[in-house]
Amino acid sequence: MKIRIERTAQPKPHADESQLGFGRYFTDHMFWMDYTPEKGWHDARIVPYGPIALSPAATVLHYGMEVFEGLKAYRRADGRVQLFRPWDNFSRMNDSAERLCLPQLDTEFAQEALETLIRLDEAWVPSLPGTSLYIRPFEFGADPFLGLHTVHHTQFGIILSPSGSYYAEGINPVKIMIETRDVRAVRGGTGYAKCGGNYAASSRAGMYAEKKGYTQVLWLDGVERKYVEEVGAMNVMFMIDHKVVTPALLGSVLPGVTRRSCIQLLKDWGYEVEERQLAAEEIFTALAEGRLQEAWGCGTAAVVSPIGELSFHDKAYTINDFQIGPVTRRLYDELTGIQYGRLPDTHGWTKVL
Ligand code: PLP
Ligand code: COI
Repeated sequence: MKIRIERTAQPKPHADESQLGFGRYFTDHMFWMDYTPEKGWHDARIVPYGPIALSPAATVLHYGMEVFEGLKAYRRADGRVQLFRPWDNFSRMNDSAERLCLPQLDTEFAQEALETLIRLDEAWVPSLPGTSLYIRPFEFGADPFLGLHTVHHTQFGIILSPSGSYYAEGINPVKIMIETRDVRAVRGGTGYAKCGGNYAASSRAGMYAEKKGYTQVLWLDGVERKYVEEVGAMNVMFMIDHKVVTPALLGSVLPGVTRRSCIQLLKDWGYEVEERQLAAEEIFTALAEGRLQEAWGCGTAAVVSPIGELSFHDKAYTINDFQIGPVTRRLYDELTGIQYGRLPDTHGWTKVL
């Protein structure tokens, strides 16, 4: 499919790279294409970034028919721009779309569209340490019809946001609260899919956690409320008895690209990694017995983020003296080293544009 390009007549001034924050600024252009069962994906186009027209009855506005992705483009020291495992994000987007009965993407075309868009807006990829171009592909039902039905007209878009650190804390330890009232997902639900509804359902707990001074919540499984699952925007890993334990992917946890990359690096370094159910009680027993060395979260936006404090039933527990642990630090350095092209990419994870 050919991509029509309509350049903006009014390029925007760029924001100060030291003041970017996360997801607040957008580049000059965006990618769109439409899908109907009759025509398939069609009208692929790059147009000036701006508001879109949508029927007030559009399925996405009423029934949350939407899936999305999050990945980044990085500015290398040689000035070129590279992507990190973009094929994994488009493949996960198709898994998410399948769960909501949204149409499948041609993942190679989606990546081509992304690369074309980034090349056009290349000057927007920031270069200050710790900054990157956050990429948000998304797909949603646009039918102007209030009946509950399988989506017919679907739209797919990609927007780009020059961003800094996701957490105000940067790479410093964050405080996380284990949520005991609300649950995020159950097996058979949409937990493994990256769909907007999961985040909507998470917002109440997130708001309470913030009010109590916590950055995000750590979810427990929705059935027994016993096993830890993941944090709002990160997967989690615990180092217990010098082995890394991370919740297994049993349908209610997002299969993170960063999680998979961390597991690979840890195994490369000779660490034992257990993907299994991990009871919250096991974490606190290990902590009390001095067997919990480190805890961290990992995700595209958050990168690798040490967990310095974990609260459970209103009791706060400090982990590793609220310091960045050596394994957390090593993962952060190695992963960002590969992502920014400072270290060799021995796994074929990056694509230089
Ligand atoms: N879990 C949730 C709920 C997320 O939103 C994210 C972020 O995308 C992750 C985990 C980490 O996934 P990834 O490493 O693919 O960004
Ligand atoms: C990401 O890491 O891409 C995320 O999904 C974070 C987002 C929920 C803010």
